[in-house]
Amino acid sequence: MFEHIDAYPGDPILTLNENFAKDPRDNKVNLSIGIYYDEEGRLPVMRAVHEAETQMLAEPGPKPYLPMAGFAQYRDAVQSLVFGEDSPARADGRIATVQTLGGSGALKVGADFIKRYFPGSQVWVSDPTWENHRFIFERAGFSVSTYPYYDENSGGLKFEAMLSAIDALPARSVVLLHACCHNPTGVDLSELQWVTLIEVLKKRELLPVIDMAYQGFGAGIDADAFAIRELARQNVPAFVANSFSKNFSLYGERCGGLSVICESRDVAGRVLGQLTSAVRANYSNPPTHGAKIVARVLTTPALRQSWEDELATMCRRIVRMRAGIHDRLRGNVPNSLLARYLEQRGMFTYTGLSVEQVDLLRERHGVYLIRSGRMCVAALNEKNVGTAAQAISEIFAQATN
Ligand code: LMR
Repeated sequence: MFEHIDAYPGDPILTLNENFAKDPRDNKVNLSIGIYYDEEGRLPVMRAVHEAETQMLAEPGPKPYLPMAGFAQYRDAVQSLVFGEDSPARADGRIATVQTLGGSGALKVGADFIKRYFPGSQVWVSDPTWENHRFIFERAGFSVSTYPYYDENSGGLKFEAMLSAIDALPARSVVLLHACCHNPTGVDLSELQWVTLIEVLKKRELLPVIDMAYQGFGAGIDADAFAIRELARQNVPAFVANSFSKNFSLYGERCGGLSVICESRDVAGRVLGQLTSAVRANYSNPPTHGAKIVARVLTTPALRQSWEDELATMCRRIVRMRAGIHDRLRGNVPNSLLARYLEQRGMFTYTGLSVEQVDLLRERHGVYLIRSGRMCVAALNEKNVGTAAQAISEIFAQATN
């Protein structure tokens, strides 16, 4: 019966992370998965999360199913954080939001919805993008192609090429974009570039899907949502997937949201209904615990302030570690590959290391990066940055000898 089932080669990120856990070496360093670790190399429990959980434990209650669309207070808090408290689109009731299983769950529910209502559309993702984007949309039945994005020579953006490729797409093509802290490159559009791109999205009647998994890790909580708020302000139909895995350090609780900017309140009601049906067909209804934590933190002023302060502190630590590895690599890696450690934003730096170099780093030195060359700088600390820099320097020294 099952003879024809082929072996799963594993996931380029999650399987690597599992392999890291099995690696017996003491001095191994995990810079693969997109997870923020603190200065001690621990996964932080944020103060506001801890406080919210403590309060929740003191008020035990029954655990019924949540509505299919999710916990109402959470959905409202998602909209407010993503679109802004005073968003006119929100006030007009033009945004349909469902609670989802993290950002991946949001993309899956969105992909199913789009496949049902835009069956002829194809999907376009940045070159490169997060590996799971392709998997999710292909499994939902789409053909997935790329538009130009990253310029390997400069470590920056190929904006003109990106714009003209998108400007040539058929109407209703799905264009997947990263709101901030592009994964894997750490290269984002400027506000001016977003405004220019939005003109093209409107003119060509394209369907943007904006993935925002790192809100607060780039230019700030509000600034990171610039593109989303601009789309909403201009009433451009769009899908927005957001996640609290990283900015709340709630990875395993699977807290995310999918919001759709609609033309009217009436349309938003019907879209919400069909998103709800996509949730029902996938997993019925979402889990409670993480959503209650997030909703409590975002709607309790003292907890909210504590969360914002701690997130800002985490970002400052990442910036320090960017400088830390940059300074240790100076003189050991080519200058053309060095500036990007400081310039790229969010959790990742796209190092320019080849697959072979990444494999050598892992096999010889126990330093794990994604094979694309993506390094999670948010996992560096004062104790491991020297080991990582030394290993990378040796790889480059070998290449030049
Ligand atoms: C990553 O990109 O490493 C994270 O978003 C984790 C994942 O699910 O791939």
